[in-house]
Amino acid sequence: MADSTAASTADSHGGHSHGGHPADPSKRDMLELLAGAGAAIFGAAIVWPLVSSMNPAKDVLALSSVEVDLTPIQLGQGIVVSWQGKPIFVRHRTPEEIKSAEDVKPSDMPDPQADKVRVKTGHDQWLVLVGICTHLGCIPLGNKPADVRGEFGGYFCPCHGSQYDTSGRIRKGPAPANLAVPPYAFESDSKIKIG
Ligand code: FES
Repeated sequence: MADSTAASTADSHGGHSHGGHPADPSKRDMLELLAGAGAAIFGAAIVWPLVSSMNPAKDVLALSSVEVDLTPIQLGQGIVVSWQGKPIFVRHRTPEEIKSAEDVKPSDMPDPQADKVRVKTGHDQWLVLVGICTHLGCIPLGNKPADVRGEFGGYFCPCHGSQYDTSGRIRKGPAPANLAVPPYAFESDSKIKIG
């Protein structure tokens, strides 16, 4: 009797236990991930040439220059032209605006600079500036006579209240520096070339 009990116990441990399990789920997830990554790379390859063709090459941008006919700009008015993707203010200053720009004391300017070094000799009625606020890069108001021009009659940046004078110099507010003067030259009394 004791022999038959021992044989029965041995049989109950003899079978294989993992023949019916599903495929390894971690391997399946990896395949799905790879397929997804392939689709993303393929999509990027299609989109990139479109975006690239819309942006001129850097060397083309760097070489570009703009000619501006000053004849239509009335006294007291300004226009905006685009140069290398930046707004350039070209303003026809009145005699009062020139005088107020010349009369400022250096101690009244956070970034002292004489008006005469910001305009071309013999053409001081023309002010040419990069129209980008030196605080955080907004485009100030003041080119059009109807614009708000701030306390100093030049340009006013509504973003955080920086105020520039009729030479484009910072006089009040958070901007740390004057509006930049781009490279330009007079080709005749009524035409400039920027860049
Ligand atoms: S960006 Fe002009 S004041 Fe801040």
